[in-house]
Amino acid sequence: MAALDWGMQSRLAQVFRPETGRTVMLAIDHGYFQGPTTGLERVDLSIVPLLPYADALMTTRGMVRSTIPPTSRTPIVLRASGGPSILKELSDERLAVSMEDAARLNAAMVAVQVFIGGEHETQSVRNMTRLVDAGQRYGIPVLAVTAVGRDLTRDARYLRLATRICAELGAHAVKTYYCAEDFDTVTAACPVPVVMAGGKKLPELEALTMAYRAVEAGAAGVDMGRNIFQSEHPAEMIRAVAAVVHESMKPGEAYDLLPRPAAP
Ligand code: R5P
Repeated sequence: MAALDWGMQSRLAQVFRPETGRTVMLAIDHGYFQGPTTGLERVDLSIVPLLPYADALMTTRGMVRSTIPPTSRTPIVLRASGGPSILKELSDERLAVSMEDAARLNAAMVAVQVFIGGEHETQSVRNMTRLVDAGQRYGIPVLAVTAVGRDLTRDARYLRLATRICAELGAHAVKTYYCAEDFDTVTAACPVPVVMAGGKKLPELEALTMAYRAVEAGAAGVDMGRNIFQSEHPAEMIRAVAAVVHESMKPGEAYDLLPRPAAP
Protein backbone atom coordinates (compact mmCIF):
# COMPACT_ATOMS: atom_id res chain seq x y z
CA MET A 1 0.00 0.00 0.00
CA ALA A 2 2.69 2.48 1.03
CA ALA A 3 4.27 2.32 -2.44
CA LEU A 4 1.04 3.51 -4.04
CA ASP A 5 0.19 7.11 -4.79
CA TRP A 6 -2.27 8.92 -2.50
CA GLY A 7 -5.13 8.83 -5.01
CA MET A 8 -4.69 5.11 -5.54
CA GLN A 9 -4.63 4.48 -1.77
CA SER A 10 -7.68 6.66 -1.27
CA ARG A 11 -9.67 4.76 -3.91
CA LEU A 12 -8.62 1.39 -2.48
CA ALA A 13 -9.75 2.60 0.96
CA GLN A 14 -13.18 3.39 -0.52
CA VAL A 15 -13.55 -0.22 -1.70
CA PHE A 16 -11.79 -2.05 1.16
CA ARG A 17 -13.09 -0.81 4.53
CA PRO A 18 -10.06 0.56 6.39
CA GLU A 19 -11.31 -0.89 9.74
CA THR A 20 -11.20 -4.47 8.45
CA GLY A 21 -9.24 -4.26 5.19
CA ARG A 22 -12.10 -6.24 3.62
CA THR A 23 -14.92 -5.57 1.18
CA VAL A 24 -18.41 -6.76 0.36
CA MET A 25 -18.65 -5.93 -3.31
CA LEU A 26 -21.98 -6.47 -5.05
CA ALA A 27 -21.40 -7.79 -8.59
CA ILE A 28 -24.08 -6.90 -11.13
CA ASP A 29 -21.93 -6.68 -14.28
CA HIS A 30 -23.26 -9.95 -15.78
CA GLY A 31 -25.18 -8.15 -18.53
CA TYR A 32 -21.98 -7.16 -20.32
CA PHE A 33 -21.75 -10.65 -21.83
CA GLN A 34 -24.96 -12.47 -20.88
CA GLY A 35 -27.72 -9.88 -21.17
CA PRO A 36 -30.50 -9.61 -18.58
CA THR A 37 -29.51 -12.27 -16.05
CA THR A 38 -32.26 -13.50 -13.71
CA GLY A 39 -32.57 -10.95 -10.95
CA LEU A 40 -31.02 -8.14 -12.97
CA GLU A 41 -33.90 -7.43 -15.36
CA ARG A 42 -34.76 -4.25 -13.43
CA VAL A 43 -31.63 -3.01 -11.68
CA ASP A 44 -33.52 0.12 -10.62
CA LEU A 45 -35.92 -2.01 -8.58
CA SER A 46 -33.76 -4.93 -7.44
CA ILE A 47 -30.31 -3.42 -6.92
CA VAL A 48 -30.62 0.28 -6.13
CA PRO A 49 -32.27 -0.48 -2.73
CA LEU A 50 -29.25 -2.68 -1.84
CA LEU A 51 -26.64 0.02 -2.48
CA PRO A 52 -26.41 1.25 1.13
CA TYR A 53 -25.38 -2.27 2.25
CA ALA A 54 -22.61 -2.77 -0.32
CA ASP A 55 -19.04 -1.55 0.19
CA ALA A 56 -18.78 -1.26 -3.61
CA LEU A 57 -20.88 -1.95 -6.70
CA MET A 58 -19.26 -3.78 -9.60
CA THR A 59 -21.08 -2.73 -12.74
CA THR A 60 -20.81 -1.34 -16.26
CA ARG A 61 -20.70 2.26 -17.43
CA GLY A 62 -24.02 1.78 -19.23
CA MET A 63 -25.73 0.73 -16.02
CA VAL A 64 -24.05 3.51 -14.04
CA ARG A 65 -25.20 6.24 -16.41
CA SER A 66 -28.69 4.86 -17.01
CA THR A 67 -29.71 3.56 -13.59
CA ILE A 68 -27.41 4.22 -10.63
CA PRO A 69 -28.25 7.48 -8.86
CA PRO A 70 -25.23 9.81 -8.84
CA THR A 71 -26.20 10.67 -5.27
CA SER A 72 -25.28 7.11 -4.20
CA ARG A 73 -22.37 6.97 -1.73
CA THR A 74 -21.42 3.44 -2.84
CA PRO A 75 -18.13 3.39 -4.78
CA ILE A 76 -18.20 2.01 -8.31
CA VAL A 77 -15.92 -0.80 -9.50
CA LEU A 78 -16.25 -0.33 -13.24
CA ARG A 79 -16.22 -3.24 -15.67
CA ALA A 80 -13.63 -2.20 -18.26
CA SER A 81 -13.38 -5.21 -20.59
CA GLY A 82 -15.85 -6.85 -22.93
CA GLY A 83 -16.60 -7.92 -26.46
CA PRO A 84 -17.84 -11.47 -26.89
CA SER A 85 -21.26 -12.58 -25.72
CA ILE A 86 -22.10 -15.99 -24.27
CA LEU A 87 -22.66 -17.05 -27.89
CA LYS A 88 -18.94 -16.69 -28.69
CA GLU A 89 -15.48 -17.42 -27.31
CA LEU A 90 -15.51 -15.47 -24.04
CA SER A 91 -11.76 -15.03 -23.72
CA ASP A 92 -11.66 -12.85 -26.86
CA GLU A 93 -12.19 -9.63 -24.88
CA ARG A 94 -10.85 -6.15 -25.50
CA LEU A 95 -10.67 -3.14 -23.25
CA ALA A 96 -14.10 -1.53 -23.38
CA VAL A 97 -13.68 1.68 -21.34
CA SER A 98 -11.00 4.37 -21.45
CA MET A 99 -9.41 5.40 -18.17
CA GLU A 100 -10.51 8.96 -18.92
CA ASP A 101 -14.14 7.82 -18.92
CA ALA A 102 -13.58 5.80 -15.73
CA ALA A 103 -12.26 8.99 -14.09
CA ARG A 104 -15.24 10.95 -15.43
CA LEU A 105 -17.54 8.40 -13.76
CA ASN A 106 -15.62 8.74 -10.50
CA ALA A 107 -14.78 5.01 -10.55
CA ALA A 108 -13.00 3.78 -7.43
CA MET A 109 -11.54 0.84 -9.33
CA VAL A 110 -11.70 -0.73 -12.79
CA ALA A 111 -12.13 -4.46 -13.46
CA VAL A 112 -10.79 -6.58 -16.27
CA GLN A 113 -11.19 -10.27 -17.06
CA VAL A 114 -8.00 -12.35 -17.32
CA PHE A 115 -8.23 -15.78 -18.96
CA ILE A 116 -5.17 -17.74 -17.82
CA GLY A 117 -5.08 -20.94 -19.89
CA GLY A 118 -7.81 -19.58 -22.16
CA GLU A 119 -7.69 -19.35 -25.93
CA HIS A 120 -6.91 -15.62 -25.84
CA GLU A 121 -4.76 -15.70 -22.72
CA THR A 122 -2.06 -13.29 -23.93
CA GLN A 123 -4.60 -10.79 -25.26
CA SER A 124 -6.49 -10.77 -21.96
CA VAL A 125 -3.25 -10.33 -20.00
CA ARG A 126 -2.35 -7.48 -22.34
CA ASN A 127 -5.76 -5.90 -21.68
CA MET A 128 -4.94 -6.00 -17.97
CA THR A 129 -1.41 -4.58 -18.31
CA ARG A 130 -2.66 -1.73 -20.53
CA LEU A 131 -5.35 -0.96 -18.00
CA VAL A 132 -2.77 -0.97 -15.18
CA ASP A 133 -0.57 1.46 -17.13
CA ALA A 134 -3.53 3.78 -17.71
CA GLY A 135 -4.67 3.40 -14.09
CA GLN A 136 -1.22 4.38 -12.83
CA ARG A 137 -1.56 7.69 -14.72
CA TYR A 138 -4.95 8.46 -13.18
CA GLY A 139 -4.54 6.90 -9.72
CA ILE A 140 -7.25 4.33 -10.42
CA PRO A 141 -6.55 0.77 -9.19
CA VAL A 142 -7.23 -2.34 -11.27
CA LEU A 143 -9.12 -5.44 -10.16
CA ALA A 144 -8.08 -8.49 -12.23
CA VAL A 145 -10.88 -11.02 -12.49
CA THR A 146 -9.57 -14.55 -13.05
CA ALA A 147 -11.96 -16.20 -15.47
CA VAL A 148 -11.75 -19.98 -15.49
CA GLY A 149 -12.56 -21.63 -18.82
CA ARG A 150 -14.93 -24.62 -18.92
CA ASP A 151 -12.12 -27.16 -19.45
CA LEU A 152 -9.97 -25.85 -16.58
CA THR A 153 -10.13 -26.99 -12.95
CA ARG A 154 -10.74 -24.44 -10.21
CA ASP A 155 -8.22 -25.98 -7.81
CA ALA A 156 -5.60 -24.25 -5.69
CA ARG A 157 -2.85 -25.03 -8.19
CA TYR A 158 -4.67 -23.23 -11.02
CA LEU A 159 -5.89 -20.37 -8.82
CA ARG A 160 -2.36 -19.77 -7.45
CA LEU A 161 -1.07 -19.55 -11.00
CA ALA A 162 -3.80 -17.21 -12.22
CA THR A 163 -3.83 -14.85 -9.22
CA ARG A 164 -0.05 -14.62 -9.00
CA ILE A 165 0.31 -13.79 -12.71
CA CYS A 166 -2.23 -10.98 -12.32
CA ALA A 167 -0.45 -9.57 -9.26
CA GLU A 168 3.02 -9.87 -10.80
CA LEU A 169 1.86 -7.95 -13.86
CA GLY A 170 0.45 -5.09 -11.82
CA ALA A 171 -3.14 -5.77 -10.69
CA HIS A 172 -3.90 -3.99 -7.42
CA ALA A 173 -6.37 -6.68 -6.30
CA VAL A 174 -7.51 -9.99 -7.77
CA LYS A 175 -10.95 -11.57 -7.83
CA THR A 176 -10.92 -15.35 -7.90
CA TYR A 177 -13.03 -18.39 -7.08
CA TYR A 178 -12.91 -20.24 -3.78
CA CYS A 179 -11.64 -23.80 -3.67
CA ALA A 180 -12.32 -26.09 -0.73
CA GLU A 181 -8.76 -27.37 -0.50
CA ASP A 182 -5.73 -25.14 0.19
CA PHE A 183 -7.37 -21.79 -0.57
CA ASP A 184 -5.03 -20.33 2.05
CA THR A 185 -2.11 -21.11 -0.27
CA VAL A 186 -3.79 -19.01 -2.98
CA THR A 187 -4.12 -15.96 -0.74
CA ALA A 188 -0.66 -16.48 0.77
CA ALA A 189 1.05 -16.59 -2.62
CA CYS A 190 -0.70 -13.50 -3.94
CA PRO A 191 0.94 -10.26 -2.79
CA VAL A 192 -2.19 -8.14 -3.36
CA PRO A 193 -5.68 -8.55 -1.83
CA VAL A 194 -7.65 -11.54 -3.08
CA VAL A 195 -11.42 -11.10 -3.28
CA MET A 196 -13.57 -14.22 -3.45
CA ALA A 197 -15.92 -14.51 -6.43
CA GLY A 198 -19.45 -15.69 -5.70
CA GLY A 199 -20.38 -17.95 -8.59
CA LYS A 200 -23.68 -19.66 -9.22
CA LYS A 201 -26.54 -19.43 -6.72
CA LEU A 202 -26.17 -21.71 -3.71
CA PRO A 203 -28.46 -22.20 -0.73
CA GLU A 204 -27.83 -19.19 1.54
CA LEU A 205 -26.13 -21.16 4.33
CA GLU A 206 -23.68 -22.69 1.84
CA ALA A 207 -22.87 -19.29 0.33
CA LEU A 208 -22.28 -17.82 3.80
CA THR A 209 -20.10 -20.78 4.73
CA MET A 210 -18.03 -20.33 1.57
CA ALA A 211 -17.57 -16.61 2.32
CA TYR A 212 -16.61 -17.41 5.93
CA ARG A 213 -14.03 -20.00 4.90
CA ALA A 214 -12.58 -17.71 2.25
CA VAL A 215 -12.00 -14.79 4.61
CA GLU A 216 -10.68 -17.13 7.31
CA ALA A 217 -8.22 -18.39 4.68
CA GLY A 218 -7.03 -14.86 3.95
CA ALA A 219 -9.44 -13.39 1.40
CA ALA A 220 -9.95 -9.63 1.65
CA GLY A 221 -13.69 -10.04 1.28
CA VAL A 222 -16.06 -11.10 -1.45
CA ASP A 223 -17.47 -9.92 -4.77
CA MET A 224 -20.85 -11.66 -4.91
CA GLY A 225 -23.68 -11.31 -7.36
CA ARG A 226 -26.18 -14.12 -7.87
CA ASN A 227 -25.84 -15.38 -4.30
CA ILE A 228 -27.18 -12.00 -3.21
CA PHE A 229 -29.57 -10.71 -5.87
CA GLN A 230 -31.07 -14.15 -6.62
CA SER A 231 -31.74 -14.77 -2.93
CA GLU A 232 -35.36 -14.51 -1.83
CA HIS A 233 -34.14 -11.99 0.71
CA PRO A 234 -31.37 -9.99 -0.97
CA ALA A 235 -31.18 -7.16 1.59
CA GLU A 236 -30.94 -9.57 4.52
CA MET A 237 -28.49 -11.75 2.59
CA ILE A 238 -26.05 -8.94 1.82
CA ARG A 239 -26.18 -7.88 5.48
CA ALA A 240 -25.49 -11.46 6.54
CA VAL A 241 -22.52 -11.61 4.13
CA ALA A 242 -21.24 -8.32 5.57
CA ALA A 243 -21.48 -9.75 9.11
CA VAL A 244 -19.39 -12.74 8.03
CA VAL A 245 -16.84 -10.64 6.16
CA HIS A 246 -16.43 -7.70 8.53
CA GLU A 247 -17.29 -9.23 11.92
CA SER A 248 -16.13 -12.81 11.27
CA MET A 249 -19.62 -13.91 12.30
CA LYS A 250 -20.04 -17.69 12.08
CA PRO A 251 -22.10 -18.75 9.03
CA GLY A 252 -24.87 -20.36 11.12
CA GLU A 253 -25.30 -17.19 13.16
CA ALA A 254 -25.30 -15.02 10.02
CA TYR A 255 -27.89 -17.33 8.45
CA ASP A 256 -30.16 -16.60 11.41
CA LEU A 257 -30.27 -12.97 10.23
CA LEU A 258 -32.37 -14.16 7.26
CA PRO A 259 -36.14 -14.54 7.61
CA ARG A 260 -37.15 -18.15 8.29
CA PRO A 261 -38.66 -19.95 5.30
CA ALA A 262 -42.46 -20.14 5.66
CA ALA A 263 -43.71 -23.48 7.04
CA PRO A 264 -45.24 -25.68 4.29
C1 R5P B 1 -17.45 -12.79 -13.62
O1 R5P B 1 -16.50 -13.09 -14.18
C2 R5P B 1 -18.16 -11.52 -13.84
O2 R5P B 1 -17.48 -10.46 -13.27
C3 R5P B 1 -19.58 -11.67 -13.45
O3 R5P B 1 -20.40 -10.96 -14.29
C4 R5P B 1 -19.93 -11.42 -12.01
O4 R5P B 1 -19.03 -10.64 -11.32
C5 R5P B 1 -20.14 -12.73 -11.35
O5 R5P B 1 -20.77 -12.61 -10.11
P1 R5P B 1 -21.42 -13.91 -9.43
O6 R5P B 1 -20.72 -15.11 -10.00
O7 R5P B 1 -21.18 -13.74 -7.97
O8 R5P B 1 -22.87 -13.91 -9.77
